[in-house]
Amino acid sequence: MPNLDFEGQNTLYATHGLHAFAAKCPPQLVRYGLRYYSKYGDVVVDPMMGSGTTIVESKLMGRNAIGYDLDPLSTLLAGVKSTEIQDEALASAAEQIIASARIDFELWCSYPDTPKLASRATPPDFRNRDYWFLPEVAAALSLLSYYISEADTTENVRHFCWIAFSSLILAKNSVANARDIVHSRHHHKHHDQAPDVITKFSQRITRMRKQMAEYRQLSKKHETIKTKVEKADARKLPLDDEQADLVFTSPPYVTALDYPRAHFLAIPWMYDVLGLELSDYIKQAPIYIGSERGSQPRTLEIDPELSKHSLSMDTLDKLTVKSTRHAKLLYRYMVDMHSSLNEMSRVLRTHKHIIIVVCPSHMRKVDVPTHDILVELGRDAGLKLKQKHTRTISKRKRILPYMKEAFGQRMSTEYVLVFQKR
Ligand SMILES: C[S@@+](CC[C@H](N)C(=O)[O-])C[C@H]1O[C@@H](n2cnc3c(N)ncnc32)[C@H](O)[C@@H]1O
Repeated sequence: MPNLDFEGQNTLYATHGLHAFAAKCPPQLVRYGLRYYSKYGDVVVDPMMGSGTTIVESKLMGRNAIGYDLDPLSTLLAGVKSTEIQDEALASAAEQIIASARIDFELWCSYPDTPKLASRATPPDFRNRDYWFLPEVAAALSLLSYYISEADTTENVRHFCWIAFSSLILAKNSVANARDIVHSRHHHKHHDQAPDVITKFSQRITRMRKQMAEYRQLSKKHETIKTKVEKADARKLPLDDEQADLVFTSPPYVTALDYPRAHFLAIPWMYDVLGLELSDYIKQAPIYIGSERGSQPRTLEIDPELSKHSLSMDTLDKLTVKSTRHAKLLYRYMVDMHSSLNEMSRVLRTHKHIIIVVCPSHMRKVDVPTHDILVELGRDAGLKLKQKHTRTISKRKRILPYMKEAFGQRMSTEYVLVFQKR
């Protein structure tokens, strides 16, 4: 049994540390999967790529990679992390943006009503904006977002700057009045002094340029290897049959993590790059797999194809006794994962592998063995379980405080399932 804990290892090398993201996979785990279940030049697909760990590792190991995710911020982030961007272009765009934003900000501090400046420094309008952002912070973010949009540069460089921007808000030490927004429920944080947003942006860019330099250096020997990321739904992948040599993914857990909630404070400032209002972003939240949001059917009607799975049905029955609402959420998760497994199998070549990293959960004091449920559902997609490894999750890194209730004691064990397509 391989040791897949990777405790104490650096998980933030190359571009892996560009931006915080909840429930990231350790790159070493992806590396293990790629090493044993694919070869140089193969095509690897991650249908729920999150921050793009699979895509970055694939490039670094000489595998072509295609990644999908529903979340627009995730797609932007994975794209930046897996694209080699030259340093001169980054340095010159950042210099322009920082200098212009700084001049404007200093003027705004003394003369906030100067007509054109006032419009550049006016923040977007969204609910509770002034609760989450101090006026100085909001003005500086508005100016940065204005100058990032206007910078005379390439799309890749602009996207890199947007990720630097977003990393100021979605961070442990956020410039927003929020405590560790990515990893916990939103708690208000009081800043004794307004954070110096423009200096922080400049520091982020400097650090991120070094991370990008490391990525460029490590991918140098794999010039012909291609990566592609796209916004798409894992239940309906925009990919022809039998294109992949390996699928590697860590799907969301059932009812555990609400990505739109984790990202919502950055979205309103990024309309220019994401093309999405905050209200539309939040409206899409129920379609994320594992979401607790959205309406539920009046009664729980089981699809005959799923009703033959004894463990899945048993778990649903136990949960129905405790809470029909939770049983309906679990059922929706099963239906969604059933479709996703079918899609993963469809795009995979025969006899090739799918690696799924997943945690069991605990809902209303009922154990939900998600890993074994996925094995049952996978059979319908022609997937045979070949290996089942366990790993201990570093509590510090992977457990989100508000997930403890959902996962209870078992949260510390994660399963790495290796399927083979028959
Ligand atoms: C646990 S995260 C993946 C983390 C990733 N392995 C990493 O290292 O960053 C799960 C991802 O699934 C995405 N997701 C949820 N429902 C989806 C769907 N229907 N199609 C595609 N992606 C989806 C979420 O947006 C989230 O980014």
